[in-house]
Amino acid sequence: MTRCPPLRQLTRPAPSGSFGHALAMALHRHEPDEDDIEIRPQFAQHGETSSVARNRLPRTGMAPATAYQVVHDELLLDGSSRLNLATFVTTWMDPQAELLMAECASKNMIDKDEYPRTAELERRCVNMLADLWHAPESGKATGCSTTGSSEAAMLAGMAMKWRWRAARSAANDSGLPSGPPNLVMGSNVQVCWEKFCRYWEVEPRLVPVGPDSTHLTSDGAVAHCDENTIGVVAVLGSTYDGAYEPVAQIAAALQGLGDSGGPEVSVHVDAASGGFVAPFLDPDLEWDFRVGRVCSINASGHKYGLVYPGVGWVVWRDAGCLPDDLVFDVDYLGGHMPTFALNFSRPGAQVVAQYYNFLRLGHDGYRRVQQASRATAQWLAGRIARAGPFTLVSSGDDLPVVTFRAAEGEKWNVFDLSDALRSRGWLVPAYKMPPALDDVAVLRVVVRNGFSHDLAALFLEALRDCVHHLRTGEAGTTRSRTGFHH
Ligand SMILES: Cc1ncc(COP(=O)(O)O)c(C=O)c1O
Repeated sequence: MTRCPPLRQLTRPAPSGSFGHALAMALHRHEPDEDDIEIRPQFAQHGETSSVARNRLPRTGMAPATAYQVVHDELLLDGSSRLNLATFVTTWMDPQAELLMAECASKNMIDKDEYPRTAELERRCVNMLADLWHAPESGKATGCSTTGSSEAAMLAGMAMKWRWRAARSAANDSGLPSGPPNLVMGSNVQVCWEKFCRYWEVEPRLVPVGPDSTHLTSDGAVAHCDENTIGVVAVLGSTYDGAYEPVAQIAAALQGLGDSGGPEVSVHVDAASGGFVAPFLDPDLEWDFRVGRVCSINASGHKYGLVYPGVGWVVWRDAGCLPDDLVFDVDYLGGHMPTFALNFSRPGAQVVAQYYNFLRLGHDGYRRVQQASRATAQWLAGRIARAGPFTLVSSGDDLPVVTFRAAEGEKWNVFDLSDALRSRGWLVPAYKMPPALDDVAVLRVVVRNGFSHDLAALFLEALRDCVHHLRTGEAGTTRSRTGFHH
C-alpha cells in the first residue's frame, strides 16, 4: 500500500491541548493486525450477540443495554477530563447547563426557520460579546457562532483576504502591481492559522520569537508587512505560555507604517482564550475594538467562555469589515437570514449553553470564576518555583497558565516527568517552545473552572512525588505517608 507523505508541517509541537507525541490531526489509519479482533459482549444480557467484527459494520445489531456497556467500557481507558491539565477546553458545567444541552441535542443550528429561538439566542450572544469587546455597533453587531476558534479563524482570515483583494484590485486600476497575499503573525500562533494559510493559499509570514520575547512584538510585526499583507494576527493568550501579545503597541506601530507612506494593515485578534479573560480581569487593557486597527476578534466559547466543546465566536468591528460576497442567505421565518460559516449542519446545544452561562454568571460571575483560576495559577506557580528543580516560563499573570521547565543539571527531562504524572492520572503536556526557542522544553498546566485550589494542591503533591521518583528511583513520599507503599 502506498502511503501519503507524513503530515509533517501540520504536526507541529503545538501545545493545543495535546501531547507532543500525538498527531496534530488524528487521521485514523487501519492496522492490518487488528483484522481478527472482535467485540464479544459477556454480560449475559437478553439480546446479547455472541461476537461482532470490530472494524466492519456488524451484520446485525445488539440490545441497547449491551451496546451501551461495550462502548462505556472501552471509554474507561480514556483519561479523566477533569485531570486533563493540557486542555483549555471546559470540562465542568452546571447540571442545569447539561440539562439544557441534553434538551437541545437534536437541534440543528442551521435550521433558523425551524428553531427561531435558538437563532435568537445566538444573535443575543453575538451582541453581548460585541458589547463586551467595545464594538462601535453594539446592538446590531456583525458576527456569528462557529464550532470553535479554528473555524472562526478561517472566517476572519477569509474576510481579511477578500478585503485585501478588493483594495489591491482598486490599486491595480491605478497601476500598482500585486503579488501573492501574506499573513503576518508570531511563530507562536496556534496551528489553525497555518491551516488557514495553506487552505486559502496565503503565505504564512511567521515572525520568529526570541529569547527576549516568547511572542510577537510590534517591531517584528511591522518589519514583516508589505503591500500584500492581508493583516496581522495578534494573539491574546499565546497557546505556548498564556502570554498576551501587545495588541495596542502592534496597532500603533502599524499606524506609524501607514502614516509614513507604507501599506495600511489591520489587525485580527485571536482571543481564543483571552477574549473571555481580559474583559473581566484586565478591563483597562486595550486589546479589543477600542484599538482602531482591530477589525475582527475570535474567541472560543468552549474555553474560558465556560461551555463544553463545540462553540466559538467571531465578531467584526462593523458590517463594512465583512465583505458582502462571503455571506449567504438561509431561510428564516419565511424570509432570509444572512449566514457565514464553513459547515451547514452543526449542534445548537452549545450556543444555548453559552447563553445560559451569560445569564447565569453575568459580568460579575465571569470575573469571579476567572479570578479564582488566576489566583490558583499564581499560587501553583509560586509553589512550583519553590519546589526547586524548575524554572518558571509563565506564572498565570495573563491567562491562568503555568509553564515551567526543568532546571539545569537534572538527569530527567520534562517528557519523563509528563509520563510519570500520566501514570498517576494527571495529564500534563510536555513540548518544545516555538522555532528559535525550540531548545527549551516545558510543561504546561492550564488552570480553568473546576481545577480548584484543593485539586491544585493534590497535583503539587503528585508533582513532588514524581520528581522524587525520577531522581532516586524510590516511590514518592505521599504514597509512603498514606501507607500505600507498604
Ligand atoms: C490562541 C489559539 N487560537 C486558536 C485555537 C484553536 O481553537 P479551537 O480549539 O477552539 O478551534 C487555540 C486552541 O488552543 C488557541 O489557543
